[in-house]
Amino acid sequence: MSILDKHAILERNATLLLVGSLLVVSIGGIVEIAPLFYLENTIEKVEGMRPYTPLELEGRNIYIREGCYVCHSQMIRPFRDEVERYGHYSLAAESMYDHPFQWGSKRTGPDLARVGGRYSDEWHVQHLTEPRSVVPESIMPGYSFLATTDLKVENLAANLKANADVGVPYDHAMIDNAEADLKAQVDPNADTTGLEARYPKVKIADFDGNPKRLTEMDALVAYLQMLGTLVDFSTYDPATGYR
Ligand code: HEC
Repeated sequence: MSILDKHAILERNATLLLVGSLLVVSIGGIVEIAPLFYLENTIEKVEGMRPYTPLELEGRNIYIREGCYVCHSQMIRPFRDEVERYGHYSLAAESMYDHPFQWGSKRTGPDLARVGGRYSDEWHVQHLTEPRSVVPESIMPGYSFLATTDLKVENLAANLKANADVGVPYDHAMIDNAEADLKAQVDPNADTTGLEARYPKVKIADFDGNPKRLTEMDALVAYLQMLGTLVDFSTYDPATGYR
């Protein structure tokens, strides 16, 4: 009896075929699903990733509130044209502290995953205030009100705590110092040793160029300026995630 004849037995008996199919699908399913119950994390760790500073987190909330994700993605795909335009393709680890993630699904404007450090703070303020003053053909709406709206810093510790509850490694020192860290990041004259120890590579600046006020513009520009800057790709090793 050839193998095909043996298979014919299965194919001609609906119940046997059903039982056989269920068996095969369950084995495949178990192999795929079972590890997820004991693996702590399916995202490989990458050196350099840290939680957002309180100011960056506030900026991110404004980014979400204003719907920037409707026109901008934050996910560089591993294709040559994208990598040449935007830089190294995005790693899963780079959005591991994002709740919710900002990958987006439409690019009316460019991808922003690595926009950090590409322009000066002044450029961002000018661009967000009146996009066409720096990019004449731009169709991006202006957000000039951000520079005249004071940043509300209530609920900051609760915001960090909520993120900690879903797995972002904010520790007690980070939560207790949230408000002080936020204020220190926009003040180049402040004592920032604690902030810099808690959040390596943090950029400290008066982002909106107005030292008298702490505005939503400060927070949003702080967020934009750190996007994609945490992992050092000159030393990144794709095989291990470390140098
Ligand atoms: C209606 C679609 C739209 C919305 C909404 C939008 N943008 Fe844009 N954005 C664009 C377009 C188009 C460009 C490219 C032209 C330009 O530079 O202005 C752009 C460019 C940018 C750039 C420059 C990127 C680069 O690499 O040159 C940044 C930064 C940016 N947008 C941030 C934001 C932020 C932050 C928000 C939310 C407050 C936002 N955008 C909302 C369409 C949009």
